[in-house]
Amino acid sequence: MYSRIAGTGRCLPKKVVTNADLEKTVDTTDEWIRTRTGIERRHIVSDGETTGSLCEGAAREAMAAAGVGPDDIDLIIVGTTTPDQVFPNMGCLLQERLGIHGCPAFSLEAACTGFIYALSVGDQFVLSGKSRNALIIGGETLSNIVDWNDRATCVLFGDGAGAVVLQPSEEAGILSTHLHADGAYKDLLYFEGGVGKGRDTIAGCAVQMKGNEVFRVAVNTLGAIVEETLEANKMTRSDLDWLIPHQANIRIIKATAKKLGMSMDQVVQTVQDHGNTSTASVPMALDVAVRDGQIKRGDMLLLEAFGGGFTWGSALVRY
Ligand code: UT7
Repeated sequence: MYSRIAGTGRCLPKKVVTNADLEKTVDTTDEWIRTRTGIERRHIVSDGETTGSLCEGAAREAMAAAGVGPDDIDLIIVGTTTPDQVFPNMGCLLQERLGIHGCPAFSLEAACTGFIYALSVGDQFVLSGKSRNALIIGGETLSNIVDWNDRATCVLFGDGAGAVVLQPSEEAGILSTHLHADGAYKDLLYFEGGVGKGRDTIAGCAVQMKGNEVFRVAVNTLGAIVEETLEANKMTRSDLDWLIPHQANIRIIKATAKKLGMSMDQVVQTVQDHGNTSTASVPMALDVAVRDGQIKRGDMLLLEAFGGGFTWGSALVRY
């Protein structure tokens, strides 16, 4: 028995902010952003859009693609670091939006790796027979916690949500997931504000990143986890059809593809259009490639992500 991705969905905010827009507000250039990151534009929430509304949009698309309705869903897991409120958790808030009652609903926080963590947890529920229609989501509005005057970070991030529905299947679906974390790196990428720091901290805090140090560790770590994933499944690089990497920086993506000996034609790339949407980036990239017909049923996919914590993880999936 496997858990299989029965449907995918995504939701992006209406408002698009281009590199040219950012040139007007911070000391940056379209050329710097493109060459250093690959990003050309990103979507940013406005007019009442929130992590919850984006998750709802992505969830509804994924449910429709899977051919299931709210009454069928028996588990909700939302990966996010930017929930609408501290509690009820984002899973419950989404459950209410979707009109679902009674099933377990929770959020988990693993920064940019949140979706891979959520997928792995959802996989265990399906494999143990506890879920037949698990809604797994990564949703984020990092624009709410970025300093829009800090050119080192504000040009990088975007908002969005991506979702999948997992169902039990006798045919191969998720073959393995691999999760890791090392809190020793907590000071390289963080948002400090929070309950433990006092009620007033959040307003004065913003995402902080030692970009080039994160870059170095990310390249090495992602190189290692793709090897770990292939080895665990006794597969070689040539068995892969698609790499669906976390969309933080085109240079990191290229380095991982090179390590795998994969052509960039086999790599799903959305960083140019979405920026770094943290935990939403992998499920949104998956949905883009499924909907535009690049990824087909039966293709072998390697999903991977890396983020604050540090956290990192991968999933090998027969789509
Ligand atoms: O998603 C979670 C994981 N996150 C990541 O994987 C992100 C990893 N890191 C990165 O992607 C890259 O490190 C960045 C894109 C964040 C930065 O690229 P970099 O090539 O590492 O640049 P840098 O931080 O070393 O900065 C190079 C220069 C600096 O100027 P000096 O000191 O050389 O004069 C920066 O001040 O670029 C400057 N700079 C900018 N210039 C124009 C930094 N941000 C900007 C900007 N526009 N927006």
